[in-house]
Amino acid sequence: MISQQTIQQILSRIDIVEIVGSFVKLKKRGANYLGNCPFHNEKSPSFTVSPSKEIYKCFGCGVSGNTITFLMEHEKYSYVEALKWLAQKYNVEIEEKEVSAEVRAQLQLADSLFIINNFAREYFTKALFETEEGRNVGLSYFEERGFSEETIRKFQLGYCANEKDTFAKAALAKGYNLEYLQKTGLVSIRYEQPVDNYRGRVIFPIHNQSGKVLGFGARILVKSDKAPKYINSPENDIYVKHKVLYGTYFARHSIDKLNECLLVEGYTDVVSLHQAGIENVVASSGTSLTQDQLRLIKKYTKNLTILYDGDAAGIKAALRGLDMAIEEGLNVKVVLIPDKEDPDSYVQKIGAAAFREFVANNKQDFILFKLQVSMQDAGTDSVRKSQLVNDIAETIARIDKLEDFTKQQDYIRQCSQLLKIDEQGMVNLVNKYIRERLQKREQQFTQTQPAANDDLSPEALAAMAAMEGAEMDTATEDFFNTDDKHEKELVKILLRFGDKTFNDENHPTVADYIFHLPYDFESLANGEMVKRILREYKTFYDDGNLPDKKWFLYHQDPDISKQVTLILEDKEAELSHNWVDKFEIKTVFGDNAYLRDTISTTNYLILRKIKKMIDENQEEMQSATEVEAQIACMTLHQHLKKLEKELTNGLGTVIFR
Ligand code: CTP
Ligand code: MN
Repeated sequence: MISQQTIQQILSRIDIVEIVGSFVKLKKRGANYLGNCPFHNEKSPSFTVSPSKEIYKCFGCGVSGNTITFLMEHEKYSYVEALKWLAQKYNVEIEEKEVSAEVRAQLQLADSLFIINNFAREYFTKALFETEEGRNVGLSYFEERGFSEETIRKFQLGYCANEKDTFAKAALAKGYNLEYLQKTGLVSIRYEQPVDNYRGRVIFPIHNQSGKVLGFGARILVKSDKAPKYINSPENDIYVKHKVLYGTYFARHSIDKLNECLLVEGYTDVVSLHQAGIENVVASSGTSLTQDQLRLIKKYTKNLTILYDGDAAGIKAALRGLDMAIEEGLNVKVVLIPDKEDPDSYVQKIGAAAFREFVANNKQDFILFKLQVSMQDAGTDSVRKSQLVNDIAETIARIDKLEDFTKQQDYIRQCSQLLKIDEQGMVNLVNKYIRERLQKREQQFTQTQPAANDDLSPEALAAMAAMEGAEMDTATEDFFNTDDKHEKELVKILLRFGDKTFNDENHPTVADYIFHLPYDFESLANGEMVKRILREYKTFYDDGNLPDKKWFLYHQDPDISKQVTLILEDKEAELSHNWVDKFEIKTVFGDNAYLRDTISTTNYLILRKIKKMIDENQEEMQSATEVEAQIACMTLHQHLKKLEKELTNGLGTVIFR
């Protein structure tokens, strides 16, 4: 929805050293900058930023990319969020393309809810630290639980006074809309009067990945049978519960670095573990995991470790939901926290180091754990035993066979051993479930219409956009595999020299020359990625303005951006020169290497096409039975041969007229 002009404006201002430097401490080393890689743990710096190439690369873990991919990876922004962040940074006013009135209204509503939540967060923090009741009741409660002031401030915890409507009054006095205040769940109406919903409770703000407050969890201070322990924000345009995990904002970097996500149940578990220095932890808030939450985790890591503190029954219920995690390709481990403890109490009891060690030593593989729990449960009951064989086969069937074939084989072997059943029988059973699942998926695929996006919140839309991007990553193959180096060379020429002068009055620029040849290079190219870039470039060209090379370098499609980075980086690719030598193309344009490159590259691609046509024509000639057809083939052959000869003789453009 951001206009193309705005994007080009933003891209033209990007200073990679400044942006990356605001997250990573960088030191100048020659032409480049060096720092500790934010994507993996390291003591000596191997993370390099090149201002001239506008890219970063870590020689330790191999990550690389540009300013936008940095923001996407490091801050987990979507492409659009990264652009908006940069726009704000560089004071570029965002010109939005026309959106429908409905979408606009939705965006405005979401903005309003964020603004109200932010006001409430500040208000509750003030109430906690700066009012007598807050300090005596709220703060002393947190202190009793062992939370330091630093921790409280970091998680932006707060307190809501135990009075009817102090917050509501303050918010209304500020001019906030009563209807929106109700939507956020902060205020409700009793006897036609606005009242505070979180009266006398401590407040846990729930943040999205970029730190904005989506909603709140408000905990009661005393045990009560009448009132719920937590009152949570209701679902609304910004708080979509099944897509949120508590703590992602604070955990994201640590999860990235340690390549593992710990999952706990409660707000207080997350806060306590953080305080102990264990930061790669998020909470499911007491409910079983949804697919969206699993995908959120997968954005950061494939390794999910679940810390359970429940009893046996609770664990079994929780395990049922985890088959989905297997399907998402996550490596799921479980750790049982000892009796009567939860991660919060346990880490406070034994300390951070012992807790870490406990987790490391008591990690069990989810599938094997599940099998053991159900085996104990089934005992000698043969009906239940056969049920559990089926269950476990179904779970194993969810492992993506293509990606993790050996993993699946391993599980089949280990599980059949534990169950003392025939391995081949297990293989057959697993395959049966795979077939069933594939059939079901196919049916779903043919039945479902593409969903309309109109009724989704901006958060949801952004999440979806990010998700689509993520999914494409695995689905897109390396398009350049089927590609030829000269095709890439053509892209490079267009991106680097497209706007340069071409010494020809009919074709002022290199782009003019390329697009006025009587050949359509998009169809001449084999590489899917090259085709797409050429197509997009041509659209710009037809509109009368050439795209900046940054347009592709920072392209929304990470595959394009990655490949263009590679193409532009590739200094050594002097392929066309070899080709020039091989076919003795005369240098008619003096020292202007790019002109020679342009002509030799386009000629090469055309020649490749002609050679292919010659081959096809010859085949046709051989299979032709009619004399006329043979003659036609022969004529064409002679014509093609002539073209070929002219091309290899390097007569440049003239021959195409
Ligand atoms: N929860 C909830 N509503 C409740 C009880 C629980 O929403 N009535 C959710 C909360 O997100 C809570 C999580 O389930 O954080 C786990 O519950 P529990 O372990 O009871 O809460 P803790 O946050 O661990 O609180 P405490 O340590 O103070 O008991
Ligand atoms: Mn707890």
